This record gives sequence, C-alpha cells and structure tokens, in this order.
Amino acid sequence: MTEVTEQLEPTVGNWVVGERFWGRDKELELFIEDLDAGSHLLLVAQRRMGKTSLMREASCRISGRYICLNVDLQSAHSAADAIAELSAATYEHQSLWSKTKEIFSNILKSTAGQIDSLQLANLKVTLRSGLTVDNWQEKGDRLLDCLAQSEKPVAIFLDEVPILISRLLKGEDYQITPDRRRQADAFMSWLRANGIKHQGTVRMVLTGSIGLEPILRQGGLSATVNNFQPFELGPWSPDTAQGCLQALGNHRGLTYCAGALPDITDCLGICIPYHIQLFFDRIRKVCHLQDLTVVSPELVAEVYETKMLSVQGHAELSHMEERLKVVLGPTLHPLALTLLTETAVVGKLTSAATQILIQEFVVDIENGNSGDIAREILNILEHDGYLKRYPEGYQFESKLLKDWWKARNGFHFVVASDRKGNH
Ligand SMILES: Nc1ncnc2c1ncn2[C@@H]1O[C@H](COP(=O)(O)OP(=O)(O)O)[C@@H](O)[C@H]1O
Ligand SMILES: [Mg+2]
Repeated sequence: MTEVTEQLEPTVGNWVVGERFWGRDKELELFIEDLDAGSHLLLVAQRRMGKTSLMREASCRISGRYICLNVDLQSAHSAADAIAELSAATYEHQSLWSKTKEIFSNILKSTAGQIDSLQLANLKVTLRSGLTVDNWQEKGDRLLDCLAQSEKPVAIFLDEVPILISRLLKGEDYQITPDRRRQADAFMSWLRANGIKHQGTVRMVLTGSIGLEPILRQGGLSATVNNFQPFELGPWSPDTAQGCLQALGNHRGLTYCAGALPDITDCLGICIPYHIQLFFDRIRKVCHLQDLTVVSPELVAEVYETKMLSVQGHAELSHMEERLKVVLGPTLHPLALTLLTETAVVGKLTSAATQILIQEFVVDIENGNSGDIAREILNILEHDGYLKRYPEGYQFESKLLKDWWKARNGFHFVVASDRKGNH
C-alpha cells in the first residue's frame, strides 16, 4: 500500500497547500460543488481548523476553470482598504489587471509606465490613495462589473472579514456608535448587493478566525449575510488525524509503538489539524534531543504534560483570548474568561453556576439584563468553538483547550458553588 510510505512535510502555523495539505477530500468536493452551483458561502469553523488552507487548496484545484482572487483583510481598517486589497488581487491576472488600471486611472496615470514593476505592497498603498469614503462604493462596483465580464467565472475568497467588520463597528474602544454601525452596514450591504447582482458569474466566500455572525448580530446586521450559505468545516476524524501523524512520522523517520497514535488523538479530544501538527512538532523535537526514532505511549503522555500544556501552548491560548476580546469588548471579556475557567475546573458549566458568576459582574455592566448577557457570551463561546452545549451544561469541545485553560487560569479559582452568591 502506498499509505505506509506516504509522507507529509510538517507545517506549524501558516496555511498549507499542495504537498503539505492533508486529507479534506470530501470537504473539498462539497466546497467546490457549492462554488460550481454559484453559491456564496460563509466558511464557518473555529480557529486553526484549516479554513484558509481549504480555501487556498480549493483555489489551486479550480484555478484552470476559475479566476480565483485570494484577499486577506487582516490589515484592512476601512471599506476603502478592502477595495484596495481586492483590486490588488487582480494584479496577477493580466486581463483583469488592465481593467482595474482603468478604474484607478486617476492615480495610476502618473505611474503608468512603471506600475507593473511595483511591489504588491506598494501597489496596495497606491490603490488605497485613490479611494475615499465617498468613492469606494462606486470604484468597487466598477471592479465587480469587470470581474463579472471576465472570460472565466470568478471566485473571491475573503479571509479575516470579521476583523474588518469588528474594526468598523467598534473602533479602537469597542463601542458601537450609530456612525460606526452605518460604516459596517455599508460594507456588508455592498458585498451583499454585488453578490446578488453578479450571482452565477462571481461567487464569494467569507471567512475569518473569529465568527462573523456573532459580530453582525451585535450590530443588528445579521440580514446582510442571508444570501450566504453556511459551509461548516469540522475537525479531522481520529483516522484522518492518525494518518496525518503517520505521514509526518514517515517524513521525519519516526515510527509509533502500538497505542501511541490513538493516545495522541485521545489527548486532544477533537482533532483540530493545527493541534495535530503542533503535537507532532513537540514529539519530533523531544525525539531528536533524546535520539529516539520510535514514539511510545509513555513519550506521548510526557510530551502532552510537559510541552503541549506549557508555555508554547499558552502562546496560542493567549492569541485565542485576544481574539475573544475583539468580539466581546473589555466589559464582557472578563466574564467570559471566568465562565471558561469555571467550565475547565469543574468540567461543566451549569446554568446555576452561570447565574452566580454573572451576578458578580452585573454591577459593572450597564444596560443589559444578566440573562441576555449570559446568552450572548455563551453564544459566542459556542460559535467560536470553545464550548459545546450538553443537557447537563456547557463543556469544552477540545480536551486540549480545556487542559490548557485549567493549567493557566485554574489555580486559585473559586468555583461558583463556593462563592458568596451561592446561598
Ligand atoms: N489540510 C491540512 N493539512 C495539514 N495541516 C493542516 C491542514 N489544515 C490546517 N493545518 C494545520 O493548521 C495550521 C493552520 O491552518 P489555517 O488554514 O491557517 O487555519 P485557519 O485559517 O482555520 O485558522 C496549519 O499551519 C497546519 O499546521
Ligand atoms: Mg485563517
């Protein structure tokens, strides 16, 4: 069987495609099927599930039939920035770029002779200088009209959309004002209108490392994505994850004792691709230091305790926490952290415990009753893949995340049943 010698080069962090991309065959089939049907998609999955990788891999696989534009909105601070990013993405497609140049002829004229040799980063800055709050919609509309007329259908993959929307909606101080809401609405409505107008010729996929829907809900803008069909990307099955670990091992000359592979997937609870790669990376390093070529269950247990739950793990966790703050803002954020710690320490979060913990915060939280606040926070924690709802209460979805959280925040934590509010 080819499987025995199949190899995968390890990658920890950046999105992967081609030879570094593992599995996801069925998901890709469905994803491409939806694109072929002309659907606009909202790619939903928690952090590090492989959303960007899936979009990039799909782009590679359909690039003969489609013009694919990959746009990352991570550094966009306004709708105009987003249009500049989208315009710049046409640069690598000769026929499209010549039309984009016409749209921006006001600013590209002066650099007409040399624009093609400009670095992409400079190009974005230049394009941005031709866009204002007053003209981005009109320029954006013209760009989309050009895309719709191109010789092949166009697929636009917009990554990190929620980061931009959150910035538009809440600014630096996490306050939703009517003006900010108008700006977020203008951009989402522009996407929506163009999606509808060019249905069948242009398809859009929106995603990001925090959930878009909770943010839109906060701004009362949920309806702006109702022409986007949700596409959920779940974790790997234990089988797929173990196949991946095997292939990573083959690449690095490591083999596993009986039981070691299932132990790895059991430690994690759910197989988020990044966690699989991270675990392998830690095992590989320990093996290298100790001159080992065979991974035993004992080694797996040791690496989990000493490496996965330690500093490096916490760096990833801190990042998750930061993202959570972006969605929740400074007032709700500490309460969410408390609810998560209760869940990690006790093993579940009951509605009675939620009530007790929330009462301690309610004085700090203006306008909003505690039931609504709890619902909003739990919604977000569920949507972003932290917690899952069970009849007996909320629990962490990922065992790794639960163990991380407990190791970091559990010490000295007073559980709800031991608090004053609990009469
Ligand atoms: N299909 C895959 N094959 C191998 N590794 C993957 C795959 N998808 C994700 N990963 C791992 O997860 C990491 C993050 O992937 P990425 O696509 O950026 O996730 P997301 O966009 O959901 O946050 C990658 O660096 C890699 O370690
Ligand atoms: Mg991503």
